[in-house]
Amino acid sequence: MSLAVRATAEELMDAADLDPATYARVVGDLAKVNTVTLARRPTLAFLKRAMTGRRTLRLLDVGFGDGDMLRSIARWAVQHDVAAELVGVDLNHRSELAARAHTPAHLPIRYVTGDYADMGGGWDVVVSSLVAHHMTHDQLVAFLRFMEGHARSWFVNDLHRHWFAYTGYPLLARVAGWHPIVRYDGKLSIARSFRPGEWRDLLDEAGVEGARVFRAFPFRLCVERLR
Ligand SMILES: C[S@@+](CC[C@H](N)C(=O)[O-])C[C@H]1O[C@@H](n2cnc3c(N)ncnc32)[C@H](O)[C@@H]1O
Repeated sequence: MSLAVRATAEELMDAADLDPATYARVVGDLAKVNTVTLARRPTLAFLKRAMTGRRTLRLLDVGFGDGDMLRSIARWAVQHDVAAELVGVDLNHRSELAARAHTPAHLPIRYVTGDYADMGGGWDVVVSSLVAHHMTHDQLVAFLRFMEGHARSWFVNDLHRHWFAYTGYPLLARVAGWHPIVRYDGKLSIARSFRPGEWRDLLDEAGVEGARVFRAFPFRLCVERLR
């Protein structure tokens, strides 16, 4: 497959007829992928920058999947003495079922099934991980405008459409023995993702100034807006 333009094929995990038990295994393995590929690190580093001198946090995680990012953020907040209200929203109700099952009761996280656009405003921070590449061009421009209008700071953590990720991920996935859907979707996700210049064009179209686009080793491309 050429990586010159974004792929548009559908990911298997988005299939409407996927049973909840298989879906829970898929997002559970995705959480393991996130750990092995150091994927939560750039979001936590962003949070540290966004929270300099602040002690309260109202955060929205769009497309939480297994909820692993929110669990990491909850533990980060305790370690840094931050009073956090953590909310996740995901279109797929199976995510809510899986994330609830995988989240200890004492962590202060609220999982909601729905669209981010219905979650209102007043957020200190909006984050997302592996969600942007699920969106069309127009959906992404709308998402950038939502974050710019409804959050003080925001962070998009997504994949880099680059040969290093496209050839490296399948090798890693085979060795690790992740679920076949995670293996197939992971490679396709890289082909569906973005390059730095494409993000700059999207930001221009959305009317966002002052955002930073940067690569995070090994496979991620992130967009950060700090205010
Ligand atoms: C690949 S999963 C990512 C899960 C998790 N964030 C991670 O990093 O492993 C993408 C998720 O985004 C959700 N999603 C896509 N568009 C959304 C929207 N408009 N509002 C809320 N969730 C959305 C999908 O339902 C899916 O669960």
